[in-house]
Amino acid sequence: MLLKIEDLDVSYRSDEGEVTAAAMDVNLELERGQVLGIVGESGSGKSTVAMSVARLLPSPPAFYPKGRILFDGVDTLTMPLPELRRMRGKKIGVVFQDPMGSLSPLHRIGEQLVETILLHEKMPVRAAREMALEWLGKVGIPEPAVRARAYPHELSGGMQQRVMIAMGLMLGPDLIIADEPTTALDVTIQAQVLRLMRDLHQANSGVLLITHDLGVVSQMATRLAVMKDGRVVETSDDPAAFFAAPAHPYSQNLVREAKKMELE
Ligand SMILES: Nc1ncnc2c1ncn2[C@@H]1O[C@H](COP(=O)(O)OP(=O)(O)OP(=O)(O)O)[C@@H](O)[C@H]1O
Ligand SMILES: [Mg+2]
Repeated sequence: MLLKIEDLDVSYRSDEGEVTAAAMDVNLELERGQVLGIVGESGSGKSTVAMSVARLLPSPPAFYPKGRILFDGVDTLTMPLPELRRMRGKKIGVVFQDPMGSLSPLHRIGEQLVETILLHEKMPVRAAREMALEWLGKVGIPEPAVRARAYPHELSGGMQQRVMIAMGLMLGPDLIIADEPTTALDVTIQAQVLRLMRDLHQANSGVLLITHDLGVVSQMATRLAVMKDGRVVETSDDPAAFFAAPAHPYSQNLVREAKKMELE
């Protein structure tokens, strides 16, 4: 099993000491080659769970009252930080909703890709540059050699998101965590970017795809989990069957709403 989340609780403690339980008793599994879609309304705990996997939540305020997150059998919650850092990017790739928050505004995108490559791979700078340009091309950035010199703010939102995808996928991670990877994009570009993610990730990697868009899940996911108020209320190994007949009243509501939107 690539990823096994066991009885996970995640809470946040405010400066005043007030505790919010954001995820409770979460159990999820993801195998290689599978795409696990997590859906649920805003605030249901999707990002909290996804970010916990690579221990990317600032802690404090986040803490873990109980549970384990086994990545290839090793608990990321207790793994020493240097080991965890080596894993991020290389074994676990992340694609966030907000590329401007994840790319450095001060560095050219080419440099940022090269730096990430060299952090994890022993290769001459020249080879890393070539690899960066190759990936800019793969994610559909025209004239990669020119665009590599751009700063993030000089690119459109869709282009920035493509750079994030290159960053998340280029080292061939075993697990890709994509948190609302297309939400900020307009609808035509959303489809292109999703197709890219589907085509470029290695067939034997696993994808954890967070979205509130059931259409995206139905196109991409091989399994899904529905979250509400910090809990997983339903899981399914068969998205098509889920959409035809969701079991939990909350899922029924979600599917009904999504179908209504489709008709509009
Ligand atoms: N840094 C934080 N401090 C305190 N509470 C937080 C923090 N981050 C998230 N929360 C709370 O945790 C709960 C789950 O939030 P989370 O961001 O995981 O939801 P989500 O399902 O990803 O929502 P969205 O669809 O809006 O991204 C919410 O109640 C949220 O207010
Ligand atoms: Mg979120």
